[in-house]
Amino acid sequence: MGLFFSIVAFFIVALIGYLGYFSPMIFGVVIPYLALAIFLLGIVVRIIKWAKSPVPFRITTTAGQQKTMPWIRRNRFDNPSNAWETIVRMLLEILFFRSLFRNTKASIKDGKKLVYGSEKWLWLFAILFHWSFLIIVLRHFRFFSQPTPNFVSLLQSIDGFFQVGVPIIYITNVAIVVALTYLFLRRVINQKIKYISLSSDYFPLLLIFGIAITGILMRYFFKVDLVQIKELAVGILSFNPVIPEALHPLFSLHLFLVSVLLIYFPMSKLVHMPGIFFSPTRNLANDNREKRHINPWNNEFKMHYHTYEEYEDEFREVMKNVNLPLEKEEK
Ligand code: HEM
Repeated sequence: MGLFFSIVAFFIVALIGYLGYFSPMIFGVVIPYLALAIFLLGIVVRIIKWAKSPVPFRITTTAGQQKTMPWIRRNRFDNPSNAWETIVRMLLEILFFRSLFRNTKASIKDGKKLVYGSEKWLWLFAILFHWSFLIIVLRHFRFFSQPTPNFVSLLQSIDGFFQVGVPIIYITNVAIVVALTYLFLRRVINQKIKYISLSSDYFPLLLIFGIAITGILMRYFFKVDLVQIKELAVGILSFNPVIPEALHPLFSLHLFLVSVLLIYFPMSKLVHMPGIFFSPTRNLANDNREKRHINPWNNEFKMHYHTYEEYEDEFREVMKNVNLPLEKEEK
């Protein structure tokens, strides 16, 4: 049902985007501005919400030995005990998806044994997808800024390293399509994953797939007016919009899908991108045994705690009856 709904939703969105060439002003200027505003506002609201959520104690994911006696070997980056080790853990997570690398799969062997095995494909294609996406967006700065920033030429030459085809085929163009195909088919073919997949899993994949395919079609098959597109993009970003005389239907579609992605982003799971920086299970050092962390609003609310002594006093008789050890024998 989720899959069907996402496909229908995607085709409706795509049809609207394709027909956008009838109105260059609405689809070339108004909708992109609206999308940018919703995107920025949505992200700011999300960040304020995260920043305001109480984190009264350190929630630490302990995927390795924590710092303890000097002769016990510890795992610095899985279980960091200070700020710089935590920064390294964050970087490993953000740049290399370290926790996903440790992902395991469970299956039933010979009809009765539950076995866990290594599962690296998801990590590989997730890395391929995210890095390609980032590099493609960075390469697009040749449209967004005048003059074109230097890093764009560098990225273009690395990305077009194999010098195959005219125009040169970018490695990221192949990688993003392959990776998205894997990520999509994984949800459709694997019955266990299909069972837990929702429209909100399929739809963003279709949307990004649509953006990539329309971009590739524009670059390699249907020529669009890049000078006019650059004028439009620079105009929008410098708040000096120039309404284009005409929009190529493919470009209108590409831009509309990007606008829908921007609008959808802050209210969907895609917001994990900025969210990772606010994740208390990643961004806090595990120094609970080294330092005493006191909840900052204890005094403000005059918190009263039920101490162990009080607990023992309360249940002394019951505990004694079942032979539980007591710290104090009698009150
Ligand atoms: C989420 C953001 C975007 C993604 C993922 C994306 C993706 C792509 C991809 C994969 C291509 C194929 C060629 C290449 O890799 O350079 C492409 C081409 C293109 N994109 Fe985008 N795009 C995005 C945003 C935009 C925006 C905002 C514009 C508006 C200026 C735009 C305009 C174009 C144009 C004109 C081409 C054809 C390039 C050429 O002929 O060399 N894209 N896009």
